[in-house]
Amino acid sequence: MEFPEEKDQMPMDFKGVWGAMEEAQRLGLTKSIGISNFSTKKTQNMLSFATIPPSVNQVEMSPFWQQKKLRDFCKANGIVVTAFPPLGAIGASWGTNHVLESKVLNEIAEARGKTVVQVCIRWVYQVGATLAVKSYNKERLKQNVQVFDWELTEEDLEKINQIPQRKMMVREEELVTATGPYESLDELWDGEY
Ligand SMILES: NC(=O)c1ccc[n+]([C@@H]2O[C@H](COP(=O)([O-])OP(=O)(O)OC[C@H]3O[C@@H](n4cnc5c(N)ncnc54)[C@H](OP(=O)(O)O)[C@@H]3O)[C@@H](O)[C@H]2O)c1
Repeated sequence: MEFPEEKDQMPMDFKGVWGAMEEAQRLGLTKSIGISNFSTKKTQNMLSFATIPPSVNQVEMSPFWQQKKLRDFCKANGIVVTAFPPLGAIGASWGTNHVLESKVLNEIAEARGKTVVQVCIRWVYQVGATLAVKSYNKERLKQNVQVFDWELTEEDLEKINQIPQRKMMVREEELVTATGPYESLDELWDGEY
């Protein structure tokens, strides 16, 4: 993943950008407008000036980074959460195999007669989020949508809740610099990492 060079990192004019996006929606150029990688605090700040609230907040979310606080906040404010990359960005330089190799998820998959990936996708759906999952493989695409005629039990959900949490993407130090808008990861993610 390419990040902007230090010299190109500038503070984001959230109010100005959102105002222009609202205008795009008013002009009928788009049906809905949304945000991505917004922490609870940044989402709350946006709601303080938005005249059209974001319809969606696309954030990192998987059984390994469940985003409970943000999900609760978004739900209370009518914002849909979209999970990326729910499978852990398998194969990406910044991704992990945590999801596929998870003992808990493998045990649940075996008990339900499903794949680990289906368990993962079903979990996102069952906790009330939407997801952006990608595959270039026809068979895997089919597999990924076969998640609506079965469900995870309360016990399964509880086991998934117990998975130790670790934000995967964007712990990247390149996103913060002493001269940029965010000096530390804590400041960038408002403590949510
Ligand atoms: N907003 C943001 O900041 C942000 C950041 C990152 C990503 N995203 C978005 O999130 C979406 C997904 O991201 P992603 O592609 O990095 O992660 P992902 O959907 O978690 O993983 C995609 C990888 O999983 C494999 N895969 C898919 N279904 C599978 C299955 N059933 N079994 C085994 N492997 C499977 C795919 O390989 P095959 O193609 O070979 O099946 C691909 O390598 C994208 O649309 C991306 O644009 C957004």
